[in-house]
Amino acid sequence: MDARAKALKAEGKDLVSFTAGEPDFDTPDPIKEAGIAAIRKGQTKYTPASGTVELRKAVCEKLKRDNGLDYAPDQVIIGCGAKHVLYTFFQAVLDPGDRVLIPTPYWVSYPEQVKLAGGIPAFIETTPQEGFLLSPEKLQSQITNHNSQFTKVLVLNSPSNPTGAVYPPDHLRKLAEIADKAGMLIVSDEIYEKLIYGLPHASPAAFGLSIYNRTVTVNGVSKSYAMTGWRIGYAAGPKEIIDAMGRIQSHETSNPTSIAQAAALEALRRGDQDVTPMVEAFRKRRDLILSLLSGIRGVVCPKPEGAFYVFPDLSAYLSTPPLTKGGQGGVPFRNSDDLSLSLLSDCLVAVVSGVGFGAPTCLRLSYAVSEKDIERGLDRLVKYFKNFA
Ligand SMILES: Cc1ncc(COP(=O)(O)O)c(C=O)c1O
Repeated sequence: MDARAKALKAEGKDLVSFTAGEPDFDTPDPIKEAGIAAIRKGQTKYTPASGTVELRKAVCEKLKRDNGLDYAPDQVIIGCGAKHVLYTFFQAVLDPGDRVLIPTPYWVSYPEQVKLAGGIPAFIETTPQEGFLLSPEKLQSQITNHNSQFTKVLVLNSPSNPTGAVYPPDHLRKLAEIADKAGMLIVSDEIYEKLIYGLPHASPAAFGLSIYNRTVTVNGVSKSYAMTGWRIGYAAGPKEIIDAMGRIQSHETSNPTSIAQAAALEALRRGDQDVTPMVEAFRKRRDLILSLLSGIRGVVCPKPEGAFYVFPDLSAYLSTPPLTKGGQGGVPFRNSDDLSLSLLSDCLVAVVSGVGFGAPTCLRLSYAVSEKDIERGLDRLVKYFKNFA
């Protein structure tokens, strides 16, 4: 989709793209300066494979300050982005055939990373009507119904990509308690922690010692500090798991880039001062895009409480053929892949199909774009969907 959108732009087409998976803000200047200073100071050599002690200490301070979590630096690993950290986690903990519970819709890389580590992704469906939140009952029944196979890990992601759903702390606690009772590990992907618009953020590892001892918390600087290109993420958890991840990482990449680690250190030391204006801008855009989406009849879209995505369900338009000859020339769309291709060619709006997220009737629209583009794009979508019976 991105390649097609870029090709259309190169042809000079007036495309509006909602595909961005990263903040449209620049990395704050003091963070950039810290990277430049690191180069000038000669911090250009290998660092310890699991990251510099300074950065691991700063992660411990951040986890204490923001999440009420106590970790020592040897319980923390720095990787080349949260994606890399998650990959290393699955490599470290999974044996062939281990099941990993993944609520749908999910971030695209979880199942692939599980499979790369020899594991088996086991999906638990959540619906727009449930606000895309996994219910404790559904989690429990997945565990009960599969006791013959070893279910090793539960993946939690709040705020979520692609849905923007945020688990209220009490709800999250119930899920963590079920996983705890079942003897599972929990991996909590908190990469969008700072981009949250009302609810408090909760970290499962803070729900008592037993859950702490089986939880690996993953986070990073990509989304909170607009640093996606710097490639720095981190994990904190039981020392045994972090040690294993460190040994794997030392053979994969050695250390994450020394210069990017210096910049990430500055980002964490600065706390929330650069994040707050970004959050305010995203909140305004979220409200705008939601109110414009409500102008499309039959769309079901839970209000996202975090991240920078809306994830409308367009089932209403998948069974009915478009009235005009646009898109499929009057043939109903099979899924949101077809629909998103039609949106691109017929109204020059690029969105991400829900198929890759395990939600084939949904579309993901990122609001990491200007308010003007939100208005232009949604105006086109509203007109487009009037062409259906
Ligand atoms: C849910 C989720 N987890 C992890 C990542 C990876 O982040 P990073 O850029 O730090 O690798 C992303 C990036 O899109 C994401 O959406």
